[in-house]
Amino acid sequence: MTLKIGWIGCGTHATQMLLPQLLRHDVAIEALCDVDGARLAQAGRQFGVGKLTSDAKELIGTKGIDAVSMAVGPDQHLMFGKAALDRGLAVFMEKPPAATAEGARELLKASERTKKPLVLGFMKRYSIGNRIAHNVVASGRFGRVLGLTGYYMTAPTYFAGNVDYTGFFLHHCVHYMDLVSYLVSPVRSINARKVEASPGRILFHVGFDFECGAIGTIAMGTIQSRGTPVERIELMGDHQRLEVEDVIEVRWNRNPPFKTDNLGASLDDDVDTLTWKPNFTAAANEDHKGYHALLGDGLKLFRGEASSAPTIKDGVVAMERLEKLRQLLNL
Ligand SMILES: NC(=O)c1ccc[n+]([C@@H]2O[C@H](COP(=O)([O-])OP(=O)(O)OC[C@H]3O[C@@H](n4cnc5c(N)ncnc54)[C@H](O)[C@@H]3O)[C@@H](O)[C@H]2O)c1
Repeated sequence: MTLKIGWIGCGTHATQMLLPQLLRHDVAIEALCDVDGARLAQAGRQFGVGKLTSDAKELIGTKGIDAVSMAVGPDQHLMFGKAALDRGLAVFMEKPPAATAEGARELLKASERTKKPLVLGFMKRYSIGNRIAHNVVASGRFGRVLGLTGYYMTAPTYFAGNVDYTGFFLHHCVHYMDLVSYLVSPVRSINARKVEASPGRILFHVGFDFECGAIGTIAMGTIQSRGTPVERIELMGDHQRLEVEDVIEVRWNRNPPFKTDNLGASLDDDVDTLTWKPNFTAAANEDHKGYHALLGDGLKLFRGEASSAPTIKDGVVAMERLEKLRQLLNL
């Protein structure tokens, strides 16, 4: 069944990433909404949608739609999300679900009350390298995860003018507040330390104590160019190490013997390092960051099928962690 969708927010992310990937699924975009007339008209032309409005209320009231999706900003996500759920519609929204954990909890209540799913844009779970690491651990072949290290960096100019770091926390850090548990386990407690080079240029190390007993540290900050890779994850086990670089390069180190003193040395399926990275010249399978896969799982949930799409329940957990982190850092 083709799902009929109303879409709010025709900004960069929606028009370049989400809508092109969403339209590969069995959906029809019935109407688009943006307060910026030029962006709205451009998106209408790009995606062949005739019904355009600058009023989100009107979009949510569109007759015949099954779901509302949105990529706008934290305050609008909360307001439009509640309105769409109250109208009995399923919802997909980008992160963050709200500006506060309280807002996320309000959305969870609305989703439970209306019995309509609210899928959240935590696509880091679907970024292919992270996914592979998760699947290797879930297979049991990695053994117990003892440690997680990694970094998630960005540059101070990305949310220019917002030197109070709110944008960095809400739009960036929230991803890893979710991802760490997808890779390891629920978090028991968090600690954090920071150093500030100058206003707007910060580095902090976040420590996680996981319920499974593992320990973790993620370095986060606004002091790296976005022209370089800015994400890395490493899972540590006993004679096992999974490294994910820039979400597309995976190395699984295990327990090989020394090779240089053995002229018969070869590569062994069971102990040598397995590596993977994609072929960027293939004119297909371009979903390395995971938007298509995430949206596909979201649509399954909308149809009432089995799905592991992240929902507002996960959003509440991530937003509560984020608030704890900001408290610890006094930011
Ligand atoms: N998961 C990811 O990888 C990822 C990447 C980028 C952005 N995002 C998220 O997507 C959201 C949008 O980000 P963006 O970079 O596209 O921002 P953007 O500013 O380019 O787009 C937001 C759009 O919403 C419109 N808008 C604002 N208020 C509105 C309202 N009341 N009604 C209708 N439209 C309104 C704006 O005119 C703009 O076109 C943010 O929440 C951001 O965190 C997620």
